[in-house]
Amino acid sequence: MTVRSVTSNQDDIYKNLEAVVRKYAATTFLRPVADHTREAFDKASDFVRSFYGARATGRLDLVLDSGCGTGESSLHLAKKFPNVPVIGIDKSAVRLSKAGNERQLEVSAGGSCDVPANAFWVRAELLDFWRLAIEKVDAGEWRILHHALYYPNPWPKESEATRRFHLHPIFPTLLRLSPVTELRTNWDIYAREFAEAAHVLGNALSLRFKVELGAFDPENPETAFERKYQSAGQELYKVLVSH
Ligand SMILES: C[S@@+](CC[C@H](N)C(=O)[O-])C[C@H]1O[C@@H](n2cnc3c(N)ncnc32)[C@H](O)[C@@H]1O
Repeated sequence: MTVRSVTSNQDDIYKNLEAVVRKYAATTFLRPVADHTREAFDKASDFVRSFYGARATGRLDLVLDSGCGTGESSLHLAKKFPNVPVIGIDKSAVRLSKAGNERQLEVSAGGSCDVPANAFWVRAELLDFWRLAIEKVDAGEWRILHHALYYPNPWPKESEATRRFHLHPIFPTLLRLSPVTELRTNWDIYAREFAEAAHVLGNALSLRFKVELGAFDPENPETAFERKYQSAGQELYKVLVSH
């Protein structure tokens, strides 16, 4: 039996979603980028360059794992994209301190081994990191093959809805970063909102986003939260936005 996950005073998608997404489609998020994220971004960028070494000519491919928490998902992504640097980003030093620990390596690699050479973690603020990353993408220096956004904070109170990534001025940047954005969540309303916001943004910007939404039941959970939600019998949802 599956159980409902998130307690919220919303029983449907946010009523002003279309107006909010349209407003932010036409504006730029201008908050100054924090120095610590700029430094973290430079470290990530150096990692990507040094991963390719002498092969680093032209546009460099990478994968982002945004809000990676304890970083377990970055190991799974590093396995799925073995020849591509995977950058896990989170603002929590405590969670990141667990990244690449023995237990994670066991579950992700099926046996204890070293941290894969293509996995790297940085502590940073996503809203700033993404704005620095889009500059690299727009300059033709980076191609983000896959952008994982697994179980972001849901901000379930309706009064806090505009803190959700898809109801925030960062959303156009977020969806432009990669041809494939994969959201996972345990809240059906969050998944439906994210998908609807992608449709609205696509229409507002005349971009063709393909949006797929569905429930899924992972054979092997790939993140700490995924494991927790699955063992509590909660339904899990995935939204894929591609362009
Ligand atoms: C619910 S946890 C999910 C963690 C991980 N993806 C998982 O599934 O186990 C959300 C994570 O996003 C991080 N986070 C939330 N907002 C962030 C932001 N603006 N910048 C960086 N990290 C953020 C939190 O620190 C937290 O680790």
